[in-house]
Amino acid sequence: MQIKETLAAEFDRFSDNYTEDMIRCVPHYLRLLSSLGDSLPGDFSPSRVLDLGCGNGNVTALLLERFPDAEYTLLDASPDMLELCRDRFSGENVTYTRSYFRDYTFPENYFDLITACFSLHHSDGEEKQWIFPLLHKALKQGGIFTCSDLMINKGAAEHEGLVRDWEAFVNANHPDGEKWAWLAEHYEAYDRPDDYVDQEAWLLSAGFRAVEVKWREGYWMHFVAGK
Ligand SMILES: C[S@@+](CC[C@H](N)C(=O)[O-])C[C@H]1O[C@@H](n2cnc3c(N)ncnc32)[C@H](O)[C@@H]1O
Repeated sequence: MQIKETLAAEFDRFSDNYTEDMIRCVPHYLRLLSSLGDSLPGDFSPSRVLDLGCGNGNVTALLLERFPDAEYTLLDASPDMLELCRDRFSGENVTYTRSYFRDYTFPENYFDLITACFSLHHSDGEEKQWIFPLLHKALKQGGIFTCSDLMINKGAAEHEGLVRDWEAFVNANHPDGEKWAWLAEHYEAYDRPDDYVDQEAWLLSAGFRAVEVKWREGYWMHFVAGK
C-alpha cells in the first residue's frame, strides 16, 4: 500500500478548476461519469450510497438527480474537495468523511451502492486487493459496486500507445504543452492503474459476482459488480 501522504495536498491544489480540468485532460470523462448511474438496473433504488474518492462531488451530483431520497456518504482524503462538496450539497442528506481509504473503517452490510470514479487508480494492485473484499462486506446483499477509471497496467505492452494517444488528446485542448507536462508528472507520482482482467479476478475472489464491463473506449472503462 503505497499511496503517498501528499495525495490529499495534490488534490487540494487540483480542486480549483477541477471539472473543467478533468473534461480537458481525461478522455471520455463525462461519459464515464454518467455511466455510473446509467448502467444501474431500472428497478434499483439505493437507500445508502458511498462515493469513494468523491472529489468535488460530480458523481454524487448525478446520482442525487436519480436517487434524491438516498443517504450519501462522501469519502475523500482531500479537505478542499470535501469543502466543495459541503457547499454543493448543503441541505442534502450527505455525510462527509475525510480519510484515506486505508484509514476508514468500512461498515458491514450497510451500503446499497458503492461508486468509485477515477479514484481507485491511485491505489496500487495491493491496495485494490485489500479494498475489494472490504467493499464487498460493506455492501448489503443485492448491493452494487460501480467503477469508472483508466484500466491498464503501466507495465503492459499497450501502455506506451495509450500514453501517446492521451498526450495528443491533452495537447489538442492545451496546445502549449504545459498541462500535459503537469499531468505526466502527476501520473508518474500518483497513478497506479491496473488491467481490467486483473481487477475482475480480484473482484471475483473478493466475492463479487456478475462483474461486467458496461462501457469502454480503449482502456477508459466502466464496470459494475454485484453482491
Ligand atoms: C481524480 S479524483 C476523482 C474525483 C471524482 N470521483 C470524480 O470522478 O470526479 C480522485 C479523488 O480521489 C481521492 N482519493 C484518491 N485516492 C484516495 C485514497 N486512497 N483515500 C482517499 N481519497 C482518495 C482524491 O483525493 C481525489 O479527490
